[in-house]
Amino acid sequence: MSEERKATLTVDGKSVDFPVMKGTHGNDVIDIRTLGGKTGYFTYDSGFLSTASCQSHITFIDGDKGELLYRGYPIEQLAEKCNFLDVAYLLRNGELPNAAQKADFEKTIRRHTLVHDQLTRFYNGFRRDAHPMAVIVGVAGALSAFYHQGMNYSLVEHRDVCFQRIIAKIPTIISLAYRYTTGLPFMYARNDLDYAANFMYMMFGVPCEEYKVNPVLSRALDIIFILHADHEQNASTSTVRLAGSSGANPFACVAAGISCLWGPAHGGANEACLRMLEEIGDVSRVGEYINRSKDKNDSFKLMGFGHRVYKNFDPRAKLMGKVCADVLAELGLENDRLFKLAQKLEKIALEDDYFIEKKLYPNVDFYSGIVQKALGIPTSMFTCIFALARTAGWLAQWEEMITDPEYKIGRPRQLYVGAARRNVPDISKR
Ligand code: CMC
Repeated sequence: MSEERKATLTVDGKSVDFPVMKGTHGNDVIDIRTLGGKTGYFTYDSGFLSTASCQSHITFIDGDKGELLYRGYPIEQLAEKCNFLDVAYLLRNGELPNAAQKADFEKTIRRHTLVHDQLTRFYNGFRRDAHPMAVIVGVAGALSAFYHQGMNYSLVEHRDVCFQRIIAKIPTIISLAYRYTTGLPFMYARNDLDYAANFMYMMFGVPCEEYKVNPVLSRALDIIFILHADHEQNASTSTVRLAGSSGANPFACVAAGISCLWGPAHGGANEACLRMLEEIGDVSRVGEYINRSKDKNDSFKLMGFGHRVYKNFDPRAKLMGKVCADVLAELGLENDRLFKLAQKLEKIALEDDYFIEKKLYPNVDFYSGIVQKALGIPTSMFTCIFALARTAGWLAQWEEMITDPEYKIGRPRQLYVGAARRNVPDISKR
């Protein structure tokens, strides 16, 4: 019988034991759930630098090795051998689909791409120049108004339908946001196309002529989806879990995830990175911007660089660099000004002592903006592409949480440092 490991903490001269929990890979954790009851203290870990918020079977990151596994499979192999729907299936079910399951899942997703016609009227309520992330937060959340009554998420069949609906409809919702902004007519999916090709068709097709899919470009988009599908307990996933922990509707939880993802420190980095490259404009100004990013008195950061977990390299960035080169070659854009600028910036930053010391490497968003721009996706839509892909991870994580027998509503504690108790003075004395 294996011996149970313990960690002993001395609090106010008294020793208290806590169980140590072991994972498959990665850091073991000290189970401090009983700390408050045993000692009267809480832990303080603002920003969750050392806190495991849950147990999960889904994704593992080794930040030092630069490794990312979905259900144990390396991201490089998944990007080479699978499509995004295989990965979405894997994240949720724990195993890759066999041939029959794959055919069945792909068919089901194709048959759920339409949105209720009433939902398409929501778009008219937005300004035409609204940021598309603002639009999709609203419209994805509004799906809860269509799929709430009669759903019981403790039943696996209801969770099945929910997963299928979200995965199938999110590309439609995002492409409609783009079409609304541009004033182009809404396009609905074609059932003869695969998931990524369909998204490109809904974005760029027009009713008056045939849309020809470029397989190199649609595969590139599919790989972007795979690379962004999940990333363990990042800010948006933790947001989805926290929202879902109260038993909230899953479509509303996805809207919460989209809101969190929008920020420039998270999914908004690809948009910010491209805007930064455009602002730098020329290789001759790279040094100036590198210096600004190192200046403590300047809030400027090199977008697409650094990561909370990866302290060696982001394996997704390597794959994205390759996808970027393939797409630019396919389009004859090898000498693209921003691509050249990005390569130069990457090289200079990687040789700079500041970036070496702080272990700052390009992350997935460094090249993804350039690829998306080459695919014709407007800059303001980049984070929507990330949201589309991450929906698969959010839903898998939400389901893992609500089916976990140990699950409780998330309720962090705090260290209160505000005013001490005091009495309300009369208005004449304020
Ligand atoms: N440029 C310049 N300095 C940086 C950068 C950067 N991009 N990133 C971190 N640093 C510095 C930071 O100022 C700090 O310096 P010091 O030790 O002197 O205070 C040190 O490196 C550690 O950084 P941190 O901000 O404490 O690290 P964090 O783990 O809290 O933040 C991060 C990680 C991703 C938010 C941050 O690196 C960043 O803002 N990067 C730019 C935005 C970006 O590319 N985000 C996309 C992340 S990947 C996509 C995703 O999964 O969402």
